[in-house]
Amino acid sequence: MAGVCGSVAAAAAMVVVVMVSSLPGSVEAKTTIEPCTGSDSCSALLGYTLYADMKVSEVAALFGTDPAALLAANALDFGAPGAAHRILPMGLFVRVPTRCSCTDGVRKSVSVRYAARPADTLATVADGVFAGLASADQIRNANALASADPDAPLDPGQKLVVPLPCVCFNSSDNNLPAVYLSYVVQVGDTVPAIAASYETTVTDVMNVNAMGSPIAAPGDILAIPLPACTSAFPKSASDHGLIVANGTYALTAGNCVQCSCGPGNLNLYCTPASLTGSCPSMQCSNSNVLLGNVSARSTSAGCNVSSCSYGGFVNGTITTLLSTGLQSRCPGPHQFPELTEPPTTVNHDSTFLPPLSAPGPAEAGGAIPPPNSGSPSVQGGSFTLPKVSTANGPAGSVSEAPWMNKPHQILSSFILCLLLLYSQM
Ligand SMILES: *[C@@H]1O[C@H](CO)[C@@H](O)[C@H](O)[C@H]1NC(C)=O
Ligand SMILES: *[C@@H]1O[C@H](CO)[C@@H](O)[C@H](O)[C@H]1NC(C)=O
Ligand SMILES: *[C@@H]1O[C@H](CO)[C@@H](O)[C@H](O)[C@H]1NC(C)=O
Ligand SMILES: *[C@@H]1O[C@H](CO)[C@@H](O)[C@H](O)[C@H]1NC(C)=O
Ligand SMILES: *[C@@H]1O[C@H](CO)[C@@H](O)[C@H](O)[C@H]1NC(C)=O
Repeated sequence: MAGVCGSVAAAAAMVVVVMVSSLPGSVEAKTTIEPCTGSDSCSALLGYTLYADMKVSEVAALFGTDPAALLAANALDFGAPGAAHRILPMGLFVRVPTRCSCTDGVRKSVSVRYAARPADTLATVADGVFAGLASADQIRNANALASADPDAPLDPGQKLVVPLPCVCFNSSDNNLPAVYLSYVVQVGDTVPAIAASYETTVTDVMNVNAMGSPIAAPGDILAIPLPACTSAFPKSASDHGLIVANGTYALTAGNCVQCSCGPGNLNLYCTPASLTGSCPSMQCSNSNVLLGNVSARSTSAGCNVSSCSYGGFVNGTITTLLSTGLQSRCPGPHQFPELTEPPTTVNHDSTFLPPLSAPGPAEAGGAIPPPNSGSPSVQGGSFTLPKVSTANGPAGSVSEAPWMNKPHQILSSFILCLLLLYSQM
């Protein structure tokens, strides 16, 4: 059976399949998955709604990422002193950068480890701490846990792998570079509203997620393509393939270089970041210009543009490229995505979804409990997360999508094969 499934999955390399898995509470939630072969990975984003007030560093630690990278992915001021210790409000929607790898024949992020706290259950970890990005079943399968009861307490300190959904789809959408955001549909969301807030179309969202109708239920996880800027660093560079979503920043070269994309055009543009204080000089060789410097001079033949640009992090060295060329017109100064202060409150009235406010009321259904252990704290290098009550969980509603109640009738044997793969997540 595994062999048959393997070859079916291999033949369907780029096919999107919407899978069905059980969430606690018998709500059927769907997740878009991408079958894959090989061992390549890509950059992806996880859409995460904070279940409690949390420090930037705590959100980053939860997902095994760097606080500055987390801030940069949300166009929040990552260079400000003490930025990692800022407290982000419960209900805030953030984009968490992750590596999307190919494991057991499907794309997923498998680097997150979570240590169970007293009173944690699979259900509270899945629906509370990880805000619906993982299901109790997926965590159980990934850790070969026997218990079938998602509400049974976990052993405090028990280390869990938490597989998280992501897709690569060749980091492109309609032949343009794209980074995919895994978005957990919230109560009150509609597909047209989600598409509009991410400046894409309902058709695109439906195509990417192989949806038969433009309907999604709370708890479903959609892959949303975000326009992005690509790099052309050589294979020898450790940041080969760097791709940055429009309107955001990425940090690379040991946090010594920051690269941004958009909003004016979709060309990647990198400058010194110096977040570490121990960054080497970033001067283009045989010149007096620094990384990111662009000079333009009008000549009779056109505009003579010379620039010192970033060429990748090779063997621990920041490589630079000095280039000159004639262009028909002189470029204006590079526009940078606007950096903002980390918010202290969540604006539910905002009609703007990306990057920082969830569509619709994040408090709908009382899905997110108030933190009951006071402020999160960081002590002695370890961190404590706020507790989550056992009564929480996504307030699901299936009434909008009655067709989803009979998923098995529409599953072909091909999909069943993939379901087997998926259940191994
Ligand atoms: C992958 O995306 C690139 C553009 O980002 C495109 O040129 C290439 O054809 C795509 N490959 C496949 C297999 O779709
Ligand atoms: C990039 O984002 C800006 C807003 O931040 C938007 O105005 C622009 O249209 C976006 N570009 C693309 C190609 O989506
Ligand atoms: C060159 O780049 C450095 C660092 O980004 C900047 O401080 C400086 O103003 C730039 N000089 C010119 C001429 O653009
Ligand atoms: C463009 O300017 C550079 C110095 O900035 C100079 O070395 C080069 O010869 C110029 N090229 C042309 C075509 O004018
Ligand atoms: C980079 O390191 C590799 C091995 O780690 C070595 O083969 C290569 O020569 C190095 N390249 C440079 C430019 O130092």
